Order: sequence, then structure tokens, then C-alpha cells
Amino acid sequence: MTVTNLEQFCESFSDLLKGKPDISTLIRTGRSLVGELVSRKEWIGDILERVLFDKEFSENQKPGIWPNEITLHRSPDRSFLVLCYIWDPGLTDAVHDHGSWGIIGSFLRPIGERKYIRLDDGKKEGYAELEEVSSIVLQPGETTYVLPLNKGIHRMENFGSDTAITINVYGLNVRKGYVQFFYPEMNSVNRVYPPKTLREALAIRALGSMAAPWSEDLLRRVLASALPDYIKKEGEISLAKLKT
Ligand SMILES: [Fe+2]
Repeated sequence: MTVTNLEQFCESFSDLLKGKPDISTLIRTGRSLVGELVSRKEWIGDILERVLFDKEFSENQKPGIWPNEITLHRSPDRSFLVLCYIWDPGLTDAVHDHGSWGIIGSFLRPIGERKYIRLDDGKKEGYAELEEVSSIVLQPGETTYVLPLNKGIHRMENFGSDTAITINVYGLNVRKGYVQFFYPEMNSVNRVYPPKTLREALAIRALGSMAAPWSEDLLRRVLASALPDYIKKEGEISLAKLKT
């Protein structure tokens, strides 16, 4: 099937995944489908109209880590997710990793991508050494991809003077709940969460910065709670910090 709009794209992508391809086939064929989608421009008008005038569409958008993100499609079996990012001129992403594979297509205007590899073993909390390994410019219609965790550390950038758009497709998360932002010039790394979870994580980090009996008690309650593992991990880090 030739992909001329989002609906056809989602159908073709779903068929691709149903065939349970190995990762290299998935990325190769997936990139060609995303390439076809971002080469057709007409369908984006409907999306932008829905952002502005379709209340239900807007209400169904889940607040994510990136405020410039629009959810275009969630496959009913959760096997893939199609997002659109609108990039203001000069907008540079933080260096980050991903919980899943991802395919990124430039839709409107060139967009820069730098890729990094991680040099340290990840065992020291908050510490990361990165090395930049490539810097490319994706022209509209072109694609790039990332793999999960340390195999997909990158940063996107709209270095132009006008709005750019990318269409991004992601698979099932092998790591849920957060992404890591890296600060290569400071050799540091930080977990970043969507807004609601971020509030919880920040509360825990605040507790870890205040040596009081009640802060330790509260952190112990976090560890004994039914909160997700990544939030408990924040609790462990803060508790360890209190004890140093
Ligand atoms: Fe990314």
C-alpha cells in the first residue's frame, strides 16, 4: 500500500509489526514508511485543525515530557505510538535516551540530530560520560532512528529561523516511566518524568535535601508504598543522600 496519509501509515505500520520483524527489518521498513508519510504534506492540516478546534482530541492528549508534542495515534494493541513535534526556531532538545526504538522523520524544514555514545558503565548515580559520534541534518522527507536506552542517545535541534515539524514513531517501552537527560559538559545525567510524576519525584528529591526525622519517615513510607518502582528508586536515592 502506498502511504499518502496518517490512516494508511498506521495501517501499514501495524501490518509491519504484526509480521514480528527483527529489529533491523523493523527499522529499515519502518523508516521507508515514515519517509513516505513525511513526504506527503496534505494530511497535517487535519491534525492542526484538531489541535485548535477539536476539544476531545485536545483532552485526550496525555501531558508528556516535551511540551511541543502532539499525540497523533496510539495503536490499540499499544505496539506503537505516532507523535508530532513542532519545533520553534532555535529550539534545541536536551541530550536524551529512549525507552524504546524510535523512527524520526523530518516533515517541515531541515532538523539537526547529534548522536552520542555512553562511555561510563552507568553505575555511579547521576554520572555519565558521553562522546558525540555524529552530527547530521535531516532534510524534509528524510529519517533517522534510535534504539532503546544507551543505544539511542541523541539530541534534535531546529537551527533554522522558522518553525519545523518532525513525525516520530515509537515502540513498546522496555523501560517505563521516565527518560534520561544528559548534560555532557558536566558529565551528569538526570531522570525526567511527565508532569504528574515529576511532581512526585521533585517532592522526594526535596525530602532528600532536608535532614529531618519526618523527611526520613516520609521517604521510608515511599519505599513501602505501592508507588511505581522508578519513584521508589527516587526514594532510595534521597534516603541514601540523607545518610551521607
Ligand atoms: Fe529522541
